[in-house]
Amino acid sequence: MKNKTLAYGRQWINDDDIAEVVRVLKGDWLTQGPTVAAFERALADYAGVKHAVTFVNGTAALHGAMAAAGLGPGDRLLTTPMTFAATSNSALYVGAEPVFADIDPATLCLDPVKAEVKLKELPGRVRAIAPVSFAGYPFAMEPFKKLAAEHGAVLIEDACHALGGDRGGRKIGFDADMTVLSFHPVKHITTAEGGAVLTQSDAYAQALRLFRSHGITRSASDFEEEPEGPWHCEMQSLGYNYRLTDLSCALGLSQMRRLDAFVSRRREIAALYRRLLSDVSGLALPPAHEGHAYHLFPIRVEAAQRGPLFAHLAENDIRLQVHYSPVPHHPYYRKRFGYRWGDFPEAERFYHEAISLPMFPLLEDADVVRVADCVRGFLER
Ligand SMILES: Cc1ncc(COP(=O)(O)O)c(C=O)c1O
Repeated sequence: MKNKTLAYGRQWINDDDIAEVVRVLKGDWLTQGPTVAAFERALADYAGVKHAVTFVNGTAALHGAMAAAGLGPGDRLLTTPMTFAATSNSALYVGAEPVFADIDPATLCLDPVKAEVKLKELPGRVRAIAPVSFAGYPFAMEPFKKLAAEHGAVLIEDACHALGGDRGGRKIGFDADMTVLSFHPVKHITTAEGGAVLTQSDAYAQALRLFRSHGITRSASDFEEEPEGPWHCEMQSLGYNYRLTDLSCALGLSQMRRLDAFVSRRREIAALYRRLLSDVSGLALPPAHEGHAYHLFPIRVEAAQRGPLFAHLAENDIRLQVHYSPVPHHPYYRKRFGYRWGDFPEAERFYHEAISLPMFPLLEDADVVRVADCVRGFLER
């Protein structure tokens, strides 16, 4: 019998999700309706924060966060090279420049010590710091809070990998000035495309809401001019149409009911991989943490083995990904900013050794055993 093809991630949609989307589809509001507010409330309550502002995707949410933080030409965003390009691209969208500090190999996330060195090199010019909870690892936020306070920077966690994770007994979403989420199908919950920013700040929430809807307000208390009639609205800044639809939010709201179960299953899968693979020589498992949300399960092998192992897994219908080619080494960044291999040794070493194994809640134990056997079989042959 042919093996089922496994990818590194995929969504889990059930009949309840479908019924909720159909219910909204038959109703009055396809967009700009009450399901958006209901999904935002569910997200904010889950994280224990005051506001959640949804966006069409995580990239637009990052763009909104940079704009709300006031980043613009002449400013810098400090982030990690080990992330998806959207993290640093969001600084470029607002005319700012992304700068990078290397990762800590113990967490695979931005190294606060190297971040501090970078901040000292660029005194007064880093307006925002965006650490990424890579793979779902809830890195310690305190050193970044301290750095942000010392350097007058806004702290934005790119938690697109970390919804449902915990840090110090609290859900991800509470620690930074703004926390950005993605609901792409490989993430912890999905709305197909979708994203959000979580924040405790009324001012950031208001700026984010304006930004995602053309910069136009219909709220009388915010008007700058005397209303000419009940139709009055004002465009007060340049915004975009980055609104998530009620259809997407219906799916998101339904998925939120299973978020904790999804994350528990991801943790079970991680524990099973660890049990099955911990004694394989030439293999390193990802850093563990009890609050890990396990968006990814990136293993490391010797750089020379990575390509052949990747091919071997593909031959066995396990079609994976490498997360990530360090962002500064994409041709666009190299050409525009002159980055060279060697600039970020830890991120580069990780990139050359990493493969993300399948990690999604629909995986069965037998699938995990099959993947682990395949990895072990290749490395021990
Ligand atoms: C770390 C990180 N940031 C941002 C994004 C962008 O999210 P989206 O795909 O929803 O635009 C992603 C998506 O993969 C991501 O992994």
